[in-house]
Amino acid sequence: MNRKDIIILGIESSCDDTSAAILKNTRILSNVIAGQKVHEEYGGVVPELASRAHQQNIIPVVDQAIIKAGIKKDDIDAVAFTRGPGLLGSLIVGTSFAKSFALGLDIPLLDCNHMHGHVLAHFIDDANTEKPTFPFLCLTVSGGHTQIVLVKDYLDMEVVGTTIDDAAGEAFDKSAKILGLPYPGGPLIDKYAQLGQPNTHPFAKPNVPDLNYSFSGLKTSILYYIQKKEKENPEFVKENLNDICASIQATILEILFKKLIAASKQYKIKQIAIAGGVSANSGLRNRLLLEGEKRDWKTFIPKFEYCTDNAAMIAITGLQHYQKQQFAGQEISATARMKL
Ligand code: KG4
Ligand code: ZN
Repeated sequence: MNRKDIIILGIESSCDDTSAAILKNTRILSNVIAGQKVHEEYGGVVPELASRAHQQNIIPVVDQAIIKAGIKKDDIDAVAFTRGPGLLGSLIVGTSFAKSFALGLDIPLLDCNHMHGHVLAHFIDDANTEKPTFPFLCLTVSGGHTQIVLVKDYLDMEVVGTTIDDAAGEAFDKSAKILGLPYPGGPLIDKYAQLGQPNTHPFAKPNVPDLNYSFSGLKTSILYYIQKKEKENPEFVKENLNDICASIQATILEILFKKLIAASKQYKIKQIAIAGGVSANSGLRNRLLLEGEKRDWKTFIPKFEYCTDNAAMIAITGLQHYQKQQFAGQEISATARMKL
């Protein structure tokens, strides 16, 4: 092994995915993700069950990541972990594991912000994709966050727009729940939407000032609309599922893009990226390409596996801290709330 190579173990456990990745310089050697089926029957993530599942998963997931990467434990130079934001009980599992691992091997510990991770996933060296240059705007859309981020440097980011209530992923998941779809419903809405006609069912597009978002009104509007239609025809959802999903998705995208376009104009920035779980949405990816062509934007779409929660994005964030010699001590603790 070339001694100048830097090998980082990344650990992510902020919500309901346990993930470990091995990064060699800016290349990912492995990225193992264990999801948690246990939440499906509850229609959402149950925090206590999530932290218990992380405890069961963390050791096998890290083991797998090391084996798949074809390295030895002793080759690892530093451990990067998600300190926050997220579910505290879940974060504690990854944080405690990372601390023990670093202590055991006597290597540095790198504490990372999950939201930095989603944005910095764009800097993983994969498939020769072109990387954004600073400054750029990133629409970070996940189950917990909806942010327009002004990215000035790797670890210098400013939230210029955010949701005042639900996140975009929640809007997808809660709408899916109203339709009787299992959790998480976002990918299912995406799937059915591809078979339906958008704008066949009208839903509210709440408007809030500045570059901020609101999604709670949309959810209520969907609920009332479905209840009214089901009174007339109890089979309404079943008979119209594809069109309803296409209409919900189109409405969410309309809300997201209105503010993203405004942000691009306001900051005079034409490099536009998307990140987070919802950036896996096929409609969102297509729309970004279309808007990009129309508006002369340079657009950046992460590889599918780096959209939803993963440890590769934490490892690449850790690399930035490593290069800046920003190491965490053993006194570090997880935190549910953490600003960019
Ligand atoms: O980033 P992520 O994995 O976890 C959080 O940090 O929240 O995002 C999960 C969210 C969920 O709300 C899920 O429904 C949504 O991303 N999601 C999607 C798609 N894939 C994942 N939403 C719409 N379309 C998709 N294809
Ligand atoms: Zn996330």
